[in-house]
Amino acid sequence: MRALKAALFLLLLGWGLVSALAALFVRIWLRERRGRTVYPASAAAGLLNPLRGRLQPVRPTLERFRLGQGDTALEVGPGPGYFSIEASSMVGPTGRVLCLDLQPGMAAILRERLREARAGAAQPVVGDATHLPLADGSVDRAFLVAVLGEVPDRPAAVAELRRVMKPGSILGFSETLTDPDYMFQDALQDLCAAFGFELLERRNGLLGYTMTFRAPGPP
Ligand SMILES: C[S@@+](CC[C@H](N)C(=O)[O-])C[C@H]1O[C@@H](n2cnc3c(N)ncnc32)[C@H](O)[C@@H]1O
Repeated sequence: MRALKAALFLLLLGWGLVSALAALFVRIWLRERRGRTVYPASAAAGLLNPLRGRLQPVRPTLERFRLGQGDTALEVGPGPGYFSIEASSMVGPTGRVLCLDLQPGMAAILRERLREARAGAAQPVVGDATHLPLADGSVDRAFLVAVLGEVPDRPAAVAELRRVMKPGSILGFSETLTDPDYMFQDALQDLCAAFGFELLERRNGLLGYTMTFRAPGPP
């Protein structure tokens, strides 16, 4: 009887702890979501956390974005480059990946990581998603992971993507619910459709999704 009581006590204690942690997470998530700030460069290491691979594995995610040898790719909001090194190897020596981030601090971290990894096809650039320093119709692949929700003028960012992407080119997004700036799937799909992007593929995962769109026009 005593053992049963102890087991029950431990069970209730565990349940209470898990509930308290979940409530704390939801409170922080809601507070951050209301604040809607850019993910700070000072916390860049959090984006390179090895556990992230379970929710958002690098190579399979980039494969959904259909990166290939020789592509001119645009990664908007690369942060410290969780995806950029692999993206560089996927486009190879004949391609390039322009990694455009708003924060000079993120671009500096990324530059160093690319140098260490000898990822020569990727090039960090400081800039804003709503004013892309690229010519019209010059990009084969563009992707944004956990970025669009941080951009105050999201239609302007998608309009810029539409401008720089080649007809029939591929635009990819990936979002996880752990991000306070999470973009809900319907909102993202409606926004992209408003600029003529056609949904090609949607994949749901444990706590997030990837979506791939095709830019209007023949490839
Ligand atoms: C949550 S981090 C994600 C970084 C990276 N994509 C990843 O998944 O690890 C969001 C990144 O988007 C960048 N960002 C936010 N707003 C931006 C904008 N308007 N233009 C370019 N980058 C932006 C931030 O500086 C930050 O590095």
